[in-house]
Amino acid sequence: MSNGRLRAGAAALTRKLEPHARRLAGESEKAAAIDLDDWLKPCFGAELDPVEARLTTDPDLPLSVFSGLSDDLWALLSTRSYSAYPAILKALPEVPDPALQISWNGAEGVTLAAQSASFYSKVKARIRRYGEIPVEEASLLDFGCGWGRLLRLFGREVTPDRLFGCDPVESILDTCREAGVRATLARSEFLPREIPFEEKFDAAYSFSVFTHISEESHLTCLNAIHGSLKPGGLFFVTVRPPGYLRISAESAPLLEQAGPDLAKAYEGPRYGFQPHASDESHPQFDGTKMHYGEAVIGLDYIREKWDMFELLDVTPQASDMYQVVVTLRRKD
Ligand SMILES: C[S@@+](CC[C@H](N)C(=O)[O-])C[C@H]1O[C@@H](n2cnc3c(N)ncnc32)[C@H](O)[C@@H]1O
Repeated sequence: MSNGRLRAGAAALTRKLEPHARRLAGESEKAAAIDLDDWLKPCFGAELDPVEARLTTDPDLPLSVFSGLSDDLWALLSTRSYSAYPAILKALPEVPDPALQISWNGAEGVTLAAQSASFYSKVKARIRRYGEIPVEEASLLDFGCGWGRLLRLFGREVTPDRLFGCDPVESILDTCREAGVRATLARSEFLPREIPFEEKFDAAYSFSVFTHISEESHLTCLNAIHGSLKPGGLFFVTVRPPGYLRISAESAPLLEQAGPDLAKAYEGPRYGFQPHASDESHPQFDGTKMHYGEAVIGLDYIREKWDMFELLDVTPQASDMYQVVVTLRRKD
């Protein structure tokens, strides 16, 4: 897959970045210059040297060889911003260039790794707390996996035959494949009647997907995920709180419609969706309207409209307060 096609796909999907994403991008340009060698060797050499030695002897070891490392160190290793550990680098997937990371996630490199580590740790803690089996034995779905930034992390605990990712943009799945992300991948529909795998999952997660899709798309995706889970299966999803409207220039019409008391306006099952400007070449333009944009909801919406799930908890992320993690359990 050519870089040109990939960039065109990325540009088509996330053409307009939010102002705060541009700010993050500015910060992460500095982070891109970070070389972790002088940080990894002196502080974590005692942990990493034995892993490097094992991978030098056997480069095909499963990623569980990294299981002794903290989540933050694992996430930072996944950025590949170092050269001191060639066998470790060889074992880890290539990362897309910073421009693609920013267009997909609004940040890149170490800044993005901190956000990824936060979500990854929180999901694992909740699987321990609410799940019926350890994450190492679970089958796990990443819904809207993008370039696989989170699959790369969960790949340490979950083997590729039980780790699944789907996304409606084929070119971004190609990015995962070409980088060597160790997971089973397939394209899903934008309005999916079902998930494109036979497997039923112990858990699924979806980061920054339900924050961007129309209500119709949102409810269709939610039903498909519900159908893909085992009875009692867990679902971790990020949502944007109404407060996001205050920092999103694109969402100004929604802020105006809500009136002066934003929190009150989002009491009850209100879905705030501001589509991006219509673009016939965009994969989520259905001929009359865009299904991709900025979406905000409050907990009342989840309680009333997501009644096929039990709401277990709601977790903030200090690393990105506009991606609130909601933990749900499938009801039968
Ligand atoms: C902001 S990116 C986040 C990617 C990935 N979840 C991550 O956190 O790195 C949004 C992703 O949602 C995907 N997406 C958009 N509409 C979707 C839909 N209807 N169903 C599933 N995924 C969708 C996009 O292709 C894109 O990969």
